[in-house]
Amino acid sequence: MAETKKLYIKTYGCQMNVYDSERMAEAMGGSGYEVTETPDDADMILLNTCHIREKAAEKVYSDLGRLKPFKSENPNLKIGVAGCVAQAEGEEIMRRQPMVDIVVGPQSYHRLPEMEAKAQAGEKALDTDFPEEDKFEKLKLRPKAKRAPAAFLTVQEGCDKFCAFCVVPYTRGAEVSRPVDRILTEARDLVERGVREITLLGQNVNAYHGAGPSGDMTLAQLIWQLDKVDGLERIRFTTSHPNDMMDDLIEAHGTCSKLMPYLHLPVQSGSNKILKRMNRSHDRDSYLRLIERIREARPDILLSGDFIVGFPEETEEDFQDTMSLIQEVQYGQAYSFKYSSRPGTPAAERALVDEAAATDRLHRLQALITQQQRDIQNSMVGRDVSVMFEKPGRFDDQMVGKSEYLHAVHVAGSGAKVGDIAKVRIVESGTNSLKGECI
Ligand code: 5AD
Ligand code: SF4
Repeated sequence: MAETKKLYIKTYGCQMNVYDSERMAEAMGGSGYEVTETPDDADMILLNTCHIREKAAEKVYSDLGRLKPFKSENPNLKIGVAGCVAQAEGEEIMRRQPMVDIVVGPQSYHRLPEMEAKAQAGEKALDTDFPEEDKFEKLKLRPKAKRAPAAFLTVQEGCDKFCAFCVVPYTRGAEVSRPVDRILTEARDLVERGVREITLLGQNVNAYHGAGPSGDMTLAQLIWQLDKVDGLERIRFTTSHPNDMMDDLIEAHGTCSKLMPYLHLPVQSGSNKILKRMNRSHDRDSYLRLIERIREARPDILLSGDFIVGFPEETEEDFQDTMSLIQEVQYGQAYSFKYSSRPGTPAAERALVDEAAATDRLHRLQALITQQQRDIQNSMVGRDVSVMFEKPGRFDDQMVGKSEYLHAVHVAGSGAKVGDIAKVRIVESGTNSLKGECI
């Protein structure tokens, strides 16, 4: 039998990349590769990259530079760049870093084994197509090994929204939804292997419209199908666009007990002027009204968001509109970014706001979000939550898990095992996690 080779994958960016990295590892399993946790002994190194902000993309080049000594030490080492930087920059990567053997876009990674063979033959392999065939179908099902209790499952890819700042519609292409039966098969397979919580992934997941037995299904209809899968206890989904929060999905938050009370619903800005310039096609009031309706359906839902500060033409007044929106919503979690100009997007043509002003806004916004996060965490003390344990804690008898609201919860002396779901009373709120006792 051929000797096993070692594959090291470094994943940048979003959860979709985490999922894609797993699938690439599986694809390469068929070519005799197994995953290693360090680049030191690797026969192949893959960087699964992110292009969303300039910093993320530049990091790839500096990391590639750092891989040079590995290649000089082991000339047989194959280096590949996958993901959205690969899609956006293609051949340019090989020009800037000639030691790169493989460049593979996010829609082509099922072709990775053939590309590796080509690289082994001493040729460069580049594929950034949007092929007709379904990459998920070309990949073998995940091997039957036991899995951690929480898993990702990609159900939708791409985006048709064209926000003025965003590269996703260009790097990931148009919206495509996977058919319902394939998702159900994958979900059942995951459950057989120990998974109890699935997070459905998509760049625009709530725009899901995959083929079902009698026509397309919405995300809510897919969730109701998954609700019937025995052994699957928790369902989450991310990331959503406000305009695709359909009535049946809002309603499911109130009626589907497996659907967790957590929703990531980016708004980006609280200023109508900026939302318009961003081509977001919703305004501040429609977002706030939507939040109200979601809270009516599920009063305890924890909301999370994304914010961009320093978008071209953002004034202090516009920024204050964002701050007041945050005050109105009260987020349990949020991700915030300074605007980063991305070549090829409409906003890239526009004048930047003053860098120092943008940095200052980011700090003020993050302070407000941190305060809200803390307030919500503190308000959990004394409440009973349901925790799914995911790993042992730092101390001997401690376990760490996630509540239904996605808070990390540490519990000591419970005797719980990984994958158990238990009722826990929160007794303390720490910086980034909660402490609880089993009840
Ligand atoms: N600059 C800053 N942040 C961005 N995002 C997307 N594109 C950019 C950009 N050019 C942020 C948005 C999005 C999140 C995934 O990344 O907030 O929701
Ligand atoms: Fe990018 Fe906007 Fe699509 Fe989100 S909705 S992926 S921010 S274009």
